[in-house]
Amino acid sequence: MRRGARASRRGSAAIERTLTAPRDLDAAGAADLDARDPLAAFAAEFHHPRDAAGRKLIYLCGHSLGLQPKPAQGYVAQELADWQRLGVLGHHEAARPWIPYHERAAPGLAALAGALESEVVAMNSLTVNLHLMMVSFFRPRGVRNCVLIEKSAFPSDRYALVSQLEFHGLNAAQHLIEVGPRPGEHALRTEDLVARIEQEAPRLALVLLPGVQYLTGQLFDLPPLIAAARAAGAAAGVDLAHAIGNVPLRLHDWDADFAVWCSYKYLNAGPGAVGGCFVHERHATRRDLPRFAGWWGHSKAQRFDMGPDFNPLAGAEGWQVSNPPVLSTAPLLASLEIFGRAGLGRLRVKSVALTGFMQRLIETRLPRTVEIITPGREDERGSQLSLRLALPQLTAKQCYERLSAAGVVADWREPDTLRLAAVPLYNSFGDVARAVETLARAAAP
Ligand SMILES: Cc1ncc(COP(=O)(O)O)c(C=O)c1O
Repeated sequence: MRRGARASRRGSAAIERTLTAPRDLDAAGAADLDARDPLAAFAAEFHHPRDAAGRKLIYLCGHSLGLQPKPAQGYVAQELADWQRLGVLGHHEAARPWIPYHERAAPGLAALAGALESEVVAMNSLTVNLHLMMVSFFRPRGVRNCVLIEKSAFPSDRYALVSQLEFHGLNAAQHLIEVGPRPGEHALRTEDLVARIEQEAPRLALVLLPGVQYLTGQLFDLPPLIAAARAAGAAAGVDLAHAIGNVPLRLHDWDADFAVWCSYKYLNAGPGAVGGCFVHERHATRRDLPRFAGWWGHSKAQRFDMGPDFNPLAGAEGWQVSNPPVLSTAPLLASLEIFGRAGLGRLRVKSVALTGFMQRLIETRLPRTVEIITPGREDERGSQLSLRLALPQLTAKQCYERLSAAGVVADWREPDTLRLAAVPLYNSFGDVARAVETLARAAAP
């Protein structure tokens, strides 16, 4: 084991001892945990939104848009200043030259994705990357022409999939297999998904699953699912929108074919920030895979020869189409630098403690009013808890509006799900205690 990994594991164990000791389930208990939290100082590295009176809002919405890292402004300002000063010369002479700008994100992304640096690339946005990946990895042939997804897949993924099916002359009714939870359950069971993958094996060209489900917050047990998809002869793809920067991942070892993500949620890179993509090393130099090519996927040595023939780069970079969006990648670099110092292992331990604290508080303060639809086990969820209200007179949307008016930023998704995420980089146990107290008041008759 590398020295850094050993130290980080020791660090994680210390945080675990510190933050999971039984405490009072109230504001005093939260203050006590905050005082002992070794990662607490990271919150000061982010801008926290405030209300009109200047009071800090309780921000539990990192599953939708992460907070701005304070250094992000400097990173963007640097590029604006270099553009002012250098114009086109900035491609080579900027403090961080623009031509290889995306390469700066690779080490941090590889660490979060559990991948080799050559397996990841910052590019485009999630749905665009999903399309590009499906061009290469959804290759329907004969009866092997179906895609398996979960029933409540994020709509954009489903739109993209159905449009790809139609592009191949197929259709959702016959070629999209959607697997849902058992009646009365909210989470999908791994064994049900594996059984269905095995049952449909001869028809499957692609299995696309989320790392963390956007609505329920369920963390999928990816290793057996990826293994089942690959054993079935299908490609295995993962949507990591709600997983990257939230939970530890080991995409390389798990042998996924590809993964896609956005960077505006747990990666804190700002609205519409550049997304990312993982392509397993075993595909790095494959010429037989079709792809939608562009000049940034072409050999770096030959790119400016302006020749007519495409010569793809090895690795995930070979799937790039256009030159990197420097201004939307700059905040990602700022955020990845913070992740590098905090360490995802330590963040995960704090995340588990924060989410467990929120769960216990909700169960104690709102026992009959709120149902938590996120799995109760810590290894089956990330930072997000999804709630349904058992109150006929109060919808999730109304409750969300009451929370907003009282200074708690969460969100709700149609038809009736309230989502809250305590993010270990910038949320405290105090945030969680105050949010649940506000929720209890908001849900009071
Ligand atoms: C699970 C999931 N997939 C896909 C998307 C679409 O992302 P983008 O707009 O970056 O393509 C989102 C956006 O929130 C998402 O949560």
